Amino acid sequence: MIKSADRLALAFKVSINMVMPVLLHMNSVDVKRKKNERKFWNRISRIYDSWIKKAFEDQYAEFRLKFSSSVQSTDTVLELGTGTGDIALHIAPHCKEVVGIDLAPEMIAIANGKRSAWNLENISFQVGDAYNLPFDEFSFDKVICCNVLQTMKDPLRAITEGRKVLKDGGEFISITYCFGDSSFWELLKLIKWVILYGKPRYWINFTRNDLIANFKRADFEILEDEDIWKTPVVLFLRCKKRG
Ligand SMILES: C[S@@+](CC[C@H](N)C(=O)[O-])C[C@H]1O[C@@H](n2cnc3c(N)ncnc32)[C@H](O)[C@@H]1O
Repeated sequence: MIKSADRLALAFKVSINMVMPVLLHMNSVDVKRKKNERKFWNRISRIYDSWIKKAFEDQYAEFRLKFSSSVQSTDTVLELGTGTGDIALHIAPHCKEVVGIDLAPEMIAIANGKRSAWNLENISFQVGDAYNLPFDEFSFDKVICCNVLQTMKDPLRAITEGRKVLKDGGEFISITYCFGDSSFWELLKLIKWVILYGKPRYWINFTRNDLIANFKRADFEILEDEDIWKTPVVLFLRCKKRG
């Protein structure tokens, strides 16, 4: 007869043998995803600022204003997918502290160069994955994200992870291109960028409703939704973490 301690040990061994391959597989999928994303965005980092300035300056002027007026002087803010740090640098004078993270080291290197030039004390940048944030739960008053969610493989995972590091009642503020609600002509224009710079590994043609549904699924209350650009549609969302 098998003793109950032996039975327990056997059950433990069997579960480990079943779970470990799944975990290892999930880890290798994640390593591959990060490698793919880094490869594309590291390459784009070299032309990113001049591209934004040339093609999207009016839109970015609006985005900067919207984020700056959505934070308060007492807020600690985390920016997911900060890129070369443009939005973080512009909101720094309006909040207590801002941390920008990005998966692509070369984006972060440019952001750090600008940080030194701008001589701001309350801002830092670090390489990091929005799906696995290196911060304690309940650390931030606001999590912000600009022009990132539509480039992600799993935006819901980033939204859920952002929720974790928010204090109760904290806000996730996103500005996201919604090509699913934009005209065919706007979609055609995307082809020009793909020809010039290549296609990001992941891309989602969000509709406004799809994007809002992701935030609701992650247990956020939608406080504000506004089209802050019409052609193409760019959706501003201010969402509150339910306590
Ligand atoms: C279109 S750029 C936007 C950069 C910046 N937010 C802006 O508005 O200028 C998208 C950025 O998201 C970053 N990104 C994509 N997936 C990410 C992830 N899982 N974790 C962190 N950053 C990510 C990319 O490296 C890239 O810098």
